[in-house]
Amino acid sequence: MTTVRIKDLSKHVGEKVTVDGWLYNKRTAGKLQFPIVRDGSGYLQCVVFRKEVAEETWNAVDQVTQESTVRVTGSVREEPRAPGGVELGVESFDVVSPTVDYPITPKEHGTAFLMDIRHLWLRSAKQHAVLKVRSEIEQACRDYFYNNDFVLIDSPILTPAACEGTSTLFETDYFGERAFLSQSGQLYLEPAAAAFGKVYCFGPTFRAEKSKTRRHLMEFWMIEPEVAFLEFEGLQNLAEDFVEYIVSRALDRCKEELKTLERDTAKLENIRKPFPRITYRDAIELLKTKGVDAKFGDDFGADEETLIANSFDRPVMISRYPTDIKAFYMQPDPEDPSVVLGLDMIAPEGYGEIIGGSQRIHDHDLLLQRLKEHDLPIEAFQWYLDVRKYGSFPHAGFGMGIERCVAWVTGVPHLRETIPYPRMLNRIYP
Ligand code: 4AD
Ligand code: MG
Repeated sequence: MTTVRIKDLSKHVGEKVTVDGWLYNKRTAGKLQFPIVRDGSGYLQCVVFRKEVAEETWNAVDQVTQESTVRVTGSVREEPRAPGGVELGVESFDVVSPTVDYPITPKEHGTAFLMDIRHLWLRSAKQHAVLKVRSEIEQACRDYFYNNDFVLIDSPILTPAACEGTSTLFETDYFGERAFLSQSGQLYLEPAAAAFGKVYCFGPTFRAEKSKTRRHLMEFWMIEPEVAFLEFEGLQNLAEDFVEYIVSRALDRCKEELKTLERDTAKLENIRKPFPRITYRDAIELLKTKGVDAKFGDDFGADEETLIANSFDRPVMISRYPTDIKAFYMQPDPEDPSVVLGLDMIAPEGYGEIIGGSQRIHDHDLLLQRLKEHDLPIEAFQWYLDVRKYGSFPHAGFGMGIERCVAWVTGVPHLRETIPYPRMLNRIYP
């Protein structure tokens, strides 16, 4: 007997097959029972007709409980009203491993409860859909850079130096030396850009964010390109081209999932280049027209970002932030050194900053001066300064947080549902 995954059943209409999975739900109508089986690839409506099956098969279906492991054999029939367009006329139904008291029932549960059983919650339809979209987006990121001739450079997780400020570092002991969990692979990509020209990294990054918000995780995944000889204009082109590609991939290959999530896809269809580009100073003026008392030097919080984003129907790139509120490595704007050639891309619909990037300082002495101004330990950055010593070159790159992007594409308001096992303030279980 062929064992078939549910998503492939439509290729087996008229055949007798076996499906391995778990009982998702069940409905009874007199002499008929309709167990719904899921196997991770889809949902299958099974039809059990009392007159056509053995007594023990009928009873097994009658008694099977939610999330029991089952093996079902029967014939595949076309049924346009069923999920996947097919149903299974059951001949045998075996309960391989019964489940007792599955904690997630069709009633509403609180999020704290569901987070405690995140390992089981992954099986629920909505969580399953979000993580399928995540998987597609991650693959799209890799494909985009691979297809555009970037070389993958895996950056280290244990590092001796801070990339994004010292206030959010996770510190650990490295055989008597201080080490930190990586906040970003960027510093390691810059030297690699001198070796390969166009590089990217994709891995987990860590920030001890001591505030509890729906947009922050302690552990999140970042995809970061870095390109030699790319300057600020080109960086903005790369960022919008990349995001347009990611969104179109999700629309193209995650139709079912986006439907399950009831995502308004018309808003995503609209995500086409060019994206609006404004400066930080423009953003301040825009906020003023909305009644916000904003002034040069302020950093934007979630509320300000949402106000700005609501003025546009696609992601907006804000550039030229004040030097004082941005990272030490950002290149000053030659036309106005009080601001840097850095950009944040803010997603529409209130999902906040999805991308942060910049052109990098490539002058050795200016970078050294910045390290000192930021009170960073020069010894730990000697290797990074080398990039400016041995054949310096203009270069630029950005980082996109995968969870922020997935939240936006799926329409899920909180980042905790966009990663399989979220690490949040006061949560490291399961
Ligand atoms: O803007 P950030 O801090 O930029 C960097 O780390 C640069 N070194 C990247 C680079 O230029 N190569 O972070 C980049 C992105 C943010 O735009 C956001 O999407 C995400 O990472 N991010 C977070 N996502 C979830 N939880 C957090 N605590 C995050 N902090 C940043
Ligand atoms: Mg940022």
